[in-house]
Amino acid sequence: MLPTDRPRRNRKSQVIRDMVQETRLTAHDFIFPLFLIEGHSQRLEVKSMPGIYRYSADTVIDEVGRCVELGIKAFAPFPSISDGLKDRLARESANLDGLYLKAVADIKRQFPDVVIMTDVAMDPYSSDGHDGVVDVDSGEILNDASLEVLGQMALAQARAGADIIGPSDMMDGRVAWIRDVLDSNAFQHVSIMSYTAKYASAFYGPFRDALDSAPKKGDKKSYQMNPANRREALRELALDETEGADMVMIKPALSYLDIIREVKDRTNLPVTAYNVSGEYAMVKAAALNGWMDGERTMMEVLLSIKRAGADAILTYFAKEAAEVLRKG
Ligand code: PBG
Repeated sequence: MLPTDRPRRNRKSQVIRDMVQETRLTAHDFIFPLFLIEGHSQRLEVKSMPGIYRYSADTVIDEVGRCVELGIKAFAPFPSISDGLKDRLARESANLDGLYLKAVADIKRQFPDVVIMTDVAMDPYSSDGHDGVVDVDSGEILNDASLEVLGQMALAQARAGADIIGPSDMMDGRVAWIRDVLDSNAFQHVSIMSYTAKYASAFYGPFRDALDSAPKKGDKKSYQMNPANRREALRELALDETEGADMVMIKPALSYLDIIREVKDRTNLPVTAYNVSGEYAMVKAAALNGWMDGERTMMEVLLSIKRAGADAILTYFAKEAAEVLRKG
């Protein structure tokens, strides 16, 4: 028997396909990560991330300007700190005159309308390369001692003008701790986007190259989540909601689309996803080898993350995708 129900009728022309399209990307969806380095007039490409650069505080302003032209209005800066400034307690992270917080303040001064999401975790500033405080004797990551440091870091970021604080450290109780520190210092208006489900992932490799922030010893498995786990993400979600997160994030994105969907179905908070460095590098490597169409793959990746339930996407593709969207 020939079919009477024919889904292909809704695909028969471009106009009809456009009419029934369920998900659309816009530049408003994107948060663009920015790597910062010391110095002047610097713009150094990250080897494992072709097309992504590390900017000094002066050149980053021009880059933000170019992005704003393309309609990208949200940025997530990360600092590459020289070894001499790293210590056990990541003290440099609260330095308002340091590279990171000065750049944040400067971007906000030059572009008052852009949104800056700062990263809360010790690793770029830690001589141990871990997100929390490492016990000198046992090598364990000390949860509650880390909260002190993270709270001070978040407070300094709020003082520098951050709009959103993004704790990416995965310590227990950090959202409530940071909310309390912010509120008791008159920063009630500063939001928290929690890295709710951050997995211990191989996809962070290029990022750690860019910031020289890989752990000196051990791995991050005692705080980042096991990629095998789904229900644990829901447990983290429940905690972040009660602790006062304004938005939640899933990271990485591509291998975790099921987690994005499930979290989206269970929360009324906005959901974001971090399309991480290794996911970017993979597509770029294949495209540069001529093995895949880089532009089409990029747009499909971003679209699928949004279709899975992400309201916003942190992505190194932000600028390139915004250019494609502008071309139409
Ligand atoms: C560290 C941090 C990492 C990323 C963002 N914040 C790396 C890590 O946890 O080791 C990775 C982002 C990416 O790979 O693009 N707190």
